[in-house]
Amino acid sequence: MDKYLISGGRRLEGSVYVSGAKNAALALIAASILAPGETILENVPRIADVKILLNIVEKLGAKVAWLEENTVSLTIPEKIDYIAPHSLVKRLRASNLLLGGLLAARGKAQISMPGGCNIGIRPMDLHLKGLHALGAEVEIEHGFIKASGRLQGNRVYLDFPSVGATENIMMAATRAKGTTIIENVAKEPEIVDLANFLNAMGAKVRGAGTDLIRIEGVKELKSTCYSVIADRIEAGTLMVAGAITRGNVTIGKVISRHLQPVIAKLREMGVEIIEDEEYVHVAAGDPLKPTDIKTLPYPGFPTDMQSQMMAILATCQGTSVIVENVFENRLQVAEELNRMGANIKVEGQTAVVQGVEKLSGAHVRSCDLRSGAGLVLAGLAAEGVTEVSNIRLIDRGYEKFEQKLNQLGAQIRRVQVRDVSIDR
Ligand code: EPZ
Repeated sequence: MDKYLISGGRRLEGSVYVSGAKNAALALIAASILAPGETILENVPRIADVKILLNIVEKLGAKVAWLEENTVSLTIPEKIDYIAPHSLVKRLRASNLLLGGLLAARGKAQISMPGGCNIGIRPMDLHLKGLHALGAEVEIEHGFIKASGRLQGNRVYLDFPSVGATENIMMAATRAKGTTIIENVAKEPEIVDLANFLNAMGAKVRGAGTDLIRIEGVKELKSTCYSVIADRIEAGTLMVAGAITRGNVTIGKVISRHLQPVIAKLREMGVEIIEDEEYVHVAAGDPLKPTDIKTLPYPGFPTDMQSQMMAILATCQGTSVIVENVFENRLQVAEELNRMGANIKVEGQTAVVQGVEKLSGAHVRSCDLRSGAGLVLAGLAAEGVTEVSNIRLIDRGYEKFEQKLNQLGAQIRRVQVRDVSIDR
C-alpha cells in the first residue's frame, strides 16, 4: 500500500483547479441506468470510488468508456442485469445507490448490504422504508437486500435527511406510477445535481434543495449528456491547505455558494477569503483564532470537512470545540493528530482542541478518506517529515491530490511501501 512522505513548514501559494464532485458523480452514474442508450458524463473525477462504481455498472451489462480525461460514456442496455456483484459492492458503500435505479428500470434489485465503515454503522433503514413506501417488497436475506415490485407514487417522510436515502427514493420515484412526495429530504448540492440530471433525462423532479421534493413519475427516461458540479469538499480541503500553511492560494472553478459554511468558519478564525462565483482566494497569517464546529446536514457545516478543520484548529492558539452530529465514529483523526503533537481530547461526539505552537512530523495512518486528508493537511504545517500511510483511502475521493498540493508549493512524495529502504 502506498504512503505519503510530506516535508512540512512550506507556505502554499498559487492557484489550483478542483475536480468534479465525487458524491455527485457517484449518484449520477447510478442514475444513468434509468435510461437505455448512451449517457455522457463530463467533469467526472478519476478516483477509486468512481472506477469501482463504473465497474459494477459494467458488470450489470453497461458499456463504459472514458472518452477524455474526465468524460465517461455509459451505454445502458434495454435490459440491465439487476443483481450487483457482491465482490465489488462490498468495496463501495455508494453502490447502495443502485437500488432505486434498478427497481425503477427492472422492477427488481439484488444487492449485498454495503457494510458499515469506520465512520459509523451506516444503516439502510431509511432507504428501505422509502422504497417500501413506493410499493417495493424489500427483504434482507443472507446479507443481501432483495427488492421487487411495481412502483407506485406515495408520500415518504425521512426521519433523518439522509443523502443516500433521498437519492435512492428520488431515482425510484422517477418511473413510479403517479406522484411521490418526499419530506425532510437532504438538501446537499449533490441532491440538486442529481435532480437536474434526472430532469435532463426527462424526469419531473421539483423542489430539490428544499425540505420537500415532488416527483411525477414518467413512462421512460432518455439518455443524455451532463456535466458534474465542482467538488465542494475538495475545494474546502484545498482552502484549509492554504490556511493551515499560512499561505495565499486561489482555488477555481468552484461554486462558492456551496462553500459558505467552510468560508464562514475560516473567516471566524481570521482567514482572509475573497470570493466570486467561481473562485475563492484564501490568505492567512499568524495568529489564527480558535472557533467551534458543529457538523450538520447541509446547509450546516459538512461532516466531510470536520477532520480537515480539526487539523487546522490544532494549530490555532486557544480552545476549539468540535461536535460531530452526523456520524457516530468520525473523530478518530484526533489520536493521529495527537501523535503529531496536537492536544485534542475526545469525549463521545465532542473533541476539545487546545491549539499548539507547532505540530511535528510523525508516522500517522489514515483511517478513512477525510481523516487521511486531514492528516495530509497537518503534515503540510508540521515541522519535519510526516509519513501518512494507508493513502489508498485518500485515492478514493481525491483526484491527483499530491499533484495539486505540490503545484501550490507543497513537498509530498508518494512512495510504494516495498521501497521503504529509501524512506530514511
Ligand atoms: C453521503 O453518505 C456521502 N457519500 C458522505 O460522504 C457524506 O458524509 C454523507 O452523505 C453525509 O453528508 C456519498 O454521497 C457517496 P447519509 P450517506 O445517509 O448517503 C444515518 C465522503 O467522505 N442514516 O446522509 O451514506 C447514517 O447512519 C462520504 O465523501 C440512517 O440512520 O450519508 C448517518 O448517521 C463519507 N439510516 C446519517 O444518517 C439510513 O437509512 C447520514 O448518513 C441512512 C442513513
